[in-house]
Amino acid sequence: MFPEILTEARSLVLERINSLIKAESKVSDSMLYTSTAESKMIRSALLITASKKNTCLTKSSAINLATSIELLHSYSLIHDDLPSMDNDNMRRGKDSNHIKYGEAIAILSGDALQTLAFEVITNDDDLDSDLKVSAISLLTDACGYKGMVLGQELDITAESMQADEEFIKKMHYLKTGKLIEISLVLGFLGYERFSEDKDLIYKLGKSIGVGFQTVDDYLDEFGSQKEIGKPTGSDLKNKKINILSILNEEECLKIISENHVESLEIAEKIFDKENDEDIFKIIDYIYQRKM
Ligand code: IPE
Ligand code: IPE
Ligand code: MG
Ligand code: MG
Ligand code: MG
Repeated sequence: MFPEILTEARSLVLERINSLIKAESKVSDSMLYTSTAESKMIRSALLITASKKNTCLTKSSAINLATSIELLHSYSLIHDDLPSMDNDNMRRGKDSNHIKYGEAIAILSGDALQTLAFEVITNDDDLDSDLKVSAISLLTDACGYKGMVLGQELDITAESMQADEEFIKKMHYLKTGKLIEISLVLGFLGYERFSEDKDLIYKLGKSIGVGFQTVDDYLDEFGSQKEIGKPTGSDLKNKKINILSILNEEECLKIISENHVESLEIAEKIFDKENDEDIFKIIDYIYQRKM
């Protein structure tokens, strides 16, 4: 059930993170604590899998790009758990960063993970400067105040009257979807075939990204804390607007299954079912996961 490619991506990225960050201060300890903790590495796996078609990207650069994304993702999780955000005390199966290190160190380590994410790309040995600038620009767009940060703003400020499907999809796309979309897009960095398939690649990234957060909302209510490694019922506790604000369990499962079919249909237009099996395995996992 857990695709091998996720395990492979995880070990490649963890090795890189461990060589980048040395535990020499409270902040660096805290950065390592969350960024190397048990995680699925969905974003890295998408990037590394997509990059296998891309002759313009060396394996090492693909790992650096994946590492950059995982550092950004870890930063977002540390800040997401803070008392002023979701106030969650468990992450990746252990105490949240601020429970272990205190709020001030947690905030700083999120900040430092974010800048390190860009440093990893700047210092890449193989990428041309123009591709480095493109990658950084795609990431800043996905994560900044018009991307993930805006999604997080909507998430914490949304009022119940805003809860309709259009609003929830927009919030899902911004807070989670954009970074997942860019993970896929970065796998095609510099690849000449990218311009042909650009619209489809973005469409697939968006579909998977929104689908991923819909499943996250579902698991928040119906999943097991032991399996997801973070508290269940967080959204209810915080009176958050999520997909279950407008759908019951059955309707939610139906929408997840429709989204799954949609993602597979788009993927089939870009990838080959026989030769690019991994991408299909990742998509299936995203929609069928219990963790
Ligand atoms: C959790 O992401 C936060 C969301 C964007 C929903 P993941 O479910 O990918 O978390 P890890 O990386 O596996 O811990
Ligand atoms: C988090 O969404 C999205 C980001 C971290 C940007 P959630 O708040 O639903 O994520 P979990 O459930 O805490 O992992
Ligand atoms: Mg949140
Ligand atoms: Mg949260
Ligand atoms: Mg959640």
